[in-house]
Amino acid sequence: MEKLIIQGQNPLNGEIKISGAKNAALPILAASLLSNAPIQISNIPHLQDVTTIVSLLGQMSVRITLDERSNIEVDAGRLDSFHAPYELVRTMRASVLVLGPLLSRFGEAEVSLPGGCAIGTRPVDQHLKGMQAMGADIRIENGYIRAKAKRLQGATIVMDIVTVTGTENIMMAAVLAKGQTIIHNAAREPEVEDLANFLNALGAKISGAGTSTITIDGIDELGGGRYHVMPDRIETGTYLAATVITRGKIKLKNTRPDLLESVLLKLEETGALIDTGTDWISLDMKGNRPRAVNISTAPYPAFPTDMQAQMMAVNAVAEGTGVITETVFENRFMHVQELQRMGASIALKGNTAICSGTDKLHGAPVMATDLRASASLVLAGLAAQGETTIDRIYHIDRGYECIEEKLTQLGARIHRLPSDTKE
Ligand code: EPU
Repeated sequence: MEKLIIQGQNPLNGEIKISGAKNAALPILAASLLSNAPIQISNIPHLQDVTTIVSLLGQMSVRITLDERSNIEVDAGRLDSFHAPYELVRTMRASVLVLGPLLSRFGEAEVSLPGGCAIGTRPVDQHLKGMQAMGADIRIENGYIRAKAKRLQGATIVMDIVTVTGTENIMMAAVLAKGQTIIHNAAREPEVEDLANFLNALGAKISGAGTSTITIDGIDELGGGRYHVMPDRIETGTYLAATVITRGKIKLKNTRPDLLESVLLKLEETGALIDTGTDWISLDMKGNRPRAVNISTAPYPAFPTDMQAQMMAVNAVAEGTGVITETVFENRFMHVQELQRMGASIALKGNTAICSGTDKLHGAPVMATDLRASASLVLAGLAAQGETTIDRIYHIDRGYECIEEKLTQLGARIHRLPSDTKE
């Protein structure tokens, strides 16, 4: 398995561009199943998860053309399968996002249940409940969700909990339904809004995305069009946190500060000087050690769970004690044990982590367990004294485009060891 090797204690310094958002690109690619006309999408990040959804669409005979400049053309005019197999869904839970579009356009879908996951049980009951309210007949058979509907009917749906992909799946299902659908207690994440903007660009009638009530007026068919995916707010936050932890100075371009206000405020609390323009963010630590911060994760616009692990690494080297409470996923502290192996002092009590900052982490061999946990280990490695080796790095390729290249450009000493190389 490939590994990342990092020689720590080099402050990051310089400028990089932020890629398109993984969690917007995935639902947008799934949503292209709703249209039978060609669609051009730009700012698609080169990521393993994108490759997975492209393979899934390819298996359904969707015609896909990619170029190296992050553009993709999708044509779902001639689909010959409504089946999302276990082999692909188990590698990426977001594959369940094809359920709503398939059911809405073709009246039929067979999608594997995603199964367990490193960060929690992550059921899809809310997705199914919403589609059942719209008249779908849904059965769980042999590990598959088998859904059928002559034509989905608009409905008023109150989500029991705030779910991002649940909201997206129901919103996509409602696009070609008969009549009006209202989703109450919808997720307000910017990626939900980006998906709605994409669908509206193809002719859908969605209003209220980005708020907790979304209204979708069903139409008979969607056309083609062009769309530019929003920037990745979590990639943005990760590079900012990496600069805080290494006491460096950075400018991030092709991003949007308005997408991560809660994160910028926390980073300012660590002592970072932050400046922003419409599409850039700069951060300067002036060489100072960060101060520890208290964080409670929650749905947008509160502090994102996808930035929790990275901030744990920051707290590990910060001055003072920081308390982090994870309220979105029940098991998202897998990085804690690995950070402890690098010298972090973190006590776990249920869903709360109390971290007393130490002024020195030391390099160690560590293991990535999920995407954001891997990012936190990279950050810790950048700050640590000596060499850190991160194993199971395939997790990071799911969500960070060209991470070694970008970090190297910023002055980090990081390289990848191919699978069977002996150290
Ligand atoms: N939940 C249910 N029932 C459902 C759906 C969700 O109980 O039917 C629970 C989950 O178990 C969890 C909570 O609701 O405890 C919130 O989960 P949500 O459904 O919002 O998560 P998701 O849609 O599966 C997306 C992102 C995640 C991100 C979360 C939270 C995508 C493709 N994934 O997941 O991204 O952590 O929202 O913001 O959009 C990542 O990028 O590293 C990542 C994990």
